[in-house]
Amino acid sequence: MTIAPPPDTILQFTDVSLGYGDFTVLSNISLEARKGQVVALMGGSGSGKTTLLRAATGQITAQRGRVSVFGQDIAGIGSEPLRKLRQRMGVLFQQGALFTDLNVFENVAFPLREHTRISEGQIHERVLEKLDAVGLQAAAHLRISEISGGMARRVALARAIVLEPELILYDEPFAGLDPISLGIAARLIRDLTDKLNCASVLITHDVAESFTIADHVYMVGQGKLIAQGTPAELSASQDPYVRQFLNGEPDGPIAFHYPVSPAYTQWLEQRRGRRP
Ligand SMILES: Nc1ncnc2c1ncn2[C@@H]1O[C@H](COP(=O)(O)OP(=O)(O)O)[C@@H](O)[C@H]1O
Ligand SMILES: [Mg+2]
Repeated sequence: MTIAPPPDTILQFTDVSLGYGDFTVLSNISLEARKGQVVALMGGSGSGKTTLLRAATGQITAQRGRVSVFGQDIAGIGSEPLRKLRQRMGVLFQQGALFTDLNVFENVAFPLREHTRISEGQIHERVLEKLDAVGLQAAAHLRISEISGGMARRVALARAIVLEPELILYDEPFAGLDPISLGIAARLIRDLTDKLNCASVLITHDVAESFTIADHVYMVGQGKLIAQGTPAELSASQDPYVRQFLNGEPDGPIAFHYPVSPAYTQWLEQRRGRRP
């Protein structure tokens, strides 16, 4: 018998393993995001954070376990139901590419034109409202080449929320932002979550910023879920991995150096042999 998740569970991973081909990136991952929550997924570079996001959107299927979104198992779902599910999600990709031949307004209007049949007047209102939410209403007429990198990320955010999704996935939204923009972006994610009453999944390695806005934090590393809890619980944790991650220390259970393998040793010996 399977126990139904509580009705406000938006995203749920149950004992999930993920990878590419024969290669497993993460094993035994169980996590959830509920309505109104900001959930942070943290881990070092290459630990599998974007892979988790791809599993949540159904871009990749789990090697084992169950991924469910809005109470529906995402594995084996047809392409049409999957398209419907995705319409209820907003995704801000790491490289949130904007259409450079469209202006700011049209970039944000794009999903509305693509997925709804609302009137031009409603599109106008909705787009300006979302641009206002990210502080860029008066930039609506600008070309993408006329805005800064930080502004472009905010336009991508406005586009990700324009369909008023129930689940928003952010992949490293703070990357490349200056400290002020970073604080604003974090506040924005919290405010949008509260206003839309959606679930937000925040993928980041920025401890300070995510701890100020997250309700729950999951840390991945070494191919598995290493720790989870509220920011307060993790801050008080004595777990050496958690301490190392929070303090950014080079020495600890997380190795800085990529491990030496027989293939590497063989490669090195061959090179040595070739040298005069
Ligand atoms: N499309 C892919 N095919 C094969 N391996 C991949 C692919 N994408 C990512 N990987 C591998 O999966 C691991 C995790 O990558 P990723 O999820 O992008 O990490 P993160 O987002 O935490 O930096 C890395 O070892 C990476 O090389
Ligand atoms: Mg990534």
